[in-house]
Amino acid sequence: MQECIIVEQTHNIEGEISLSGAKNAVLVIMASTLLNSGKNTLRNVPNSEDVLCMINLLEELGAQVNFDQLNKVLEIDTSTVINYKVSPNIMKKMRASVLVMGPLLARFSKTEISLPGGCVLGKRPINYHLDNFKKVGVTFEQSGDYLVGSTNKLLAKRLALEYPSVGATENLMMSAVLTQGKTTIVNAALEPEVLDLIEVLKRMGAKISILPPATIEIEGVNTLNAVEHSILCDRLEAGSLLLAAAITGGNIHIPNASANLLDVFLMKLEEMGHSILIGQNGQSIRLMACKSPKAVSFKTAPYPGFPTDLQAPMLVAQTLAEGVSEIEETVFENRLIHIFELQKMGAKIILENNNKAIITGVKELVGTEVVASDIRASCALVLAGLAANGKTIVKGVHHFKRGYDALDQKLRSLGAQIKIEKQDILQDIPKEKTLEI
Ligand code: UD1
Repeated sequence: MQECIIVEQTHNIEGEISLSGAKNAVLVIMASTLLNSGKNTLRNVPNSEDVLCMINLLEELGAQVNFDQLNKVLEIDTSTVINYKVSPNIMKKMRASVLVMGPLLARFSKTEISLPGGCVLGKRPINYHLDNFKKVGVTFEQSGDYLVGSTNKLLAKRLALEYPSVGATENLMMSAVLTQGKTTIVNAALEPEVLDLIEVLKRMGAKISILPPATIEIEGVNTLNAVEHSILCDRLEAGSLLLAAAITGGNIHIPNASANLLDVFLMKLEEMGHSILIGQNGQSIRLMACKSPKAVSFKTAPYPGFPTDLQAPMLVAQTLAEGVSEIEETVFENRLIHIFELQKMGAKIILENNNKAIITGVKELVGTEVVASDIRASCALVLAGLAANGKTIVKGVHHFKRGYDALDQKLRSLGAQIKIEKQDILQDIPKEKTLEI
């Protein structure tokens, strides 16, 4: 028996729903509390497995953490942190664990993280993090399963990222806020979640400015204070919920969604024929699905381009749209694995050069057993299940639970037929079919 998501065809997802805090903001903000030595209070914290994993990590380092899951309030006391070593069982579960390297180097001049198997140097390297840490005076050596980084003194330098990596920008920024002098990060990622981190760091007392088009300047300070902060709402959850309504011919209203963080994605939904109504100042989004959506093509790109994290769910919408669409994944090299699962459901998709999907819309998908390979693919397969004739069984539930706060319950409250329960399944999930994104 294995826990699976069971989804039955549902027409007209309808109603009002509120978003949780953003996964991609909360994890790094939790890591950033290591930069101070005090009681931090974070609000609007999503109750997801990744958050629980980051709590374990912070506790392992010595922090005292209290999570009021009902009220979504997380208290982190970092005054008791004494350790700078992250064990393999935590590191393997969540790649975002690398985000403690910056804060630990700033606080202890030392960090030890285990390497998550072949992942680090293979498909999702951390070379931008490591190469730039070396430039600011960190030396690395491998000791058994651990990568040990240490420095006598962090140096303030002008750094340039070859690609605007979200994680590298965050890690380098966190290592620089307590470094004497001016650090400059050129070609930095400016995703809304990075900006939420910047707001938190500024509230702690950090001196950070953003210079157009994509440079971050940090003037080091001596100490940082503990903070209170409410996590940004999850634009990626918003996109997924809007797509649930679009795919099922429904009508949904999300009062706390920021349309200004989803411009390109919303433009594409409109191009498909769906009606989008945006509230005053860009707050609140309503989607009214059109009856015969048209296929649209897009390429993923760093913010403010089409978000790679919405590629998989948007691709599902194309499998049922009228016409042919081309979707190019430019951010990650291997993030179209979900198409093989969608093909099992009757989708007509051709994969070109591993990063381009050519999709011809079909009249309907058919429910079957499918495997989720990462967080966003798990959501995409759930959406496909809502539109598919019959029952869809989605395996790889841990990805779904890692990335979302009760998304199954939220969808159920909008009329979706979805539940998570133990099932007798045909096959186990092969290890190579998972990506820890
Ligand atoms: C973060 C998000 C993830 C999102 C991604 C892109 C979190 C916890 N995760 O991941 O949901 O999909 O941003 O918006 O915030 N790369 C390198 N070397 C590096 C670092 C990255 O080659 O050292 C490559 C990656 O393999 C990828 C690209 O750069 O192809 C972008 O990755 P990056 O922006 O770093 O993603 P993450 O921070 O890991």
